[in-house]
Amino acid sequence: MYSERLKWCLALQLLLPYCFSETSIQGQSADPKFALSGSNVSLRSSSLPENYQRLDWFYSPDLKILEWETHQPNPHYFDTKFKDRVTLGRQDGALHIYNVQEEDSSTYILKVVLKSGFEEERRIPLKVLDPVPKPHITIEKTQEMNNSCDLILSCMVRNQAVNYTWYGDSGRISEEFQSGVLNITVIPQSYSKFYKCEVSNPVSRNSDTVYFISHCKLARSSGVAWIPAWLMVMVPTILGLLLI
Ligand SMILES: *[C@@H]1O[C@H](CO)[C@@H](O)[C@H](O)[C@H]1NC(C)=O
Ligand SMILES: *[C@@H]1O[C@H](CO)[C@@H](O)[C@H](O)[C@H]1NC(C)=O
Ligand SMILES: *[C@@H]1O[C@H](CO)[C@@H](O)[C@H](O)[C@H]1NC(C)=O
Ligand SMILES: *[C@@H]1O[C@H](CO)[C@@H](O)[C@H](O)[C@H]1NC(C)=O
Repeated sequence: MYSERLKWCLALQLLLPYCFSETSIQGQSADPKFALSGSNVSLRSSSLPENYQRLDWFYSPDLKILEWETHQPNPHYFDTKFKDRVTLGRQDGALHIYNVQEEDSSTYILKVVLKSGFEEERRIPLKVLDPVPKPHITIEKTQEMNNSCDLILSCMVRNQAVNYTWYGDSGRISEEFQSGVLNITVIPQSYSKFYKCEVSNPVSRNSDTVYFISHCKLARSSGVAWIPAWLMVMVPTILGLLLI
């Protein structure tokens, strides 16, 4: 919405320097838009005013990517690292960026210069993230005691902000275990045949799984538990083929 001062200036249509120095800033605290590195991204402002004469896109306050005087057929792209990777959507003022990289993360600024000379600024944060790497589950502890098993599994990925989710036979393991460490006590009557650790960030996910053959006994490797699943499919298929 317009500030009080801007409303006054618009109403009076006075060409006061006071009015021209006005820059209204909107959307400063918007949630960032997340993008996977290597993808194509379009940044746009939800509501462009109708009568503007110029659009400027900035990577940061002192790095201008492009400017477009609407009476010109084409925008001017400045000589920046974006030069060959951006285009302006002339209909909606969108900034299309190809092949975004982590260092493209920034709060972009769209400056709109109205016919009246007023300027408006929109801030559009972009966060480019690499895909999460494949995690690796480590068995920290399997200790059988009194017919139950204390189990500690850890799941780590290096150098990245991620969320962890653990899954077992009956789905997601309850909220309190949503960390890189799964610390549970398992009884034989209700053990899970596998534990899967999923790591995720807002643009990607990846996982590792370990298999158990009893409440406290790990299958030798994930491959071991895999083979029976294959055989279960393959044997009837092979038998079926032999019977034809
Ligand atoms: C990004 O856009 C370019 C050019 O239009 C296209 O060739 C490429 O496949 C796109 N990349 C992705 C990941 O969509
Ligand atoms: C295991 O069971 C025995 C006998 O029922 C009991 O005395 C002991 O305290 C239990 N140990 C643990 C760690 O629960
Ligand atoms: C695992 O949980 C038990 C019981 O809540 C606790 O005593 C123990 O310190 C935990 N171990 C780790 C490594 O978090
Ligand atoms: C982790 O999950 C929370 C809640 O869903 C989310 O706000 C946050 O952005 C996530 N962090 C990462 C690194 O994915």
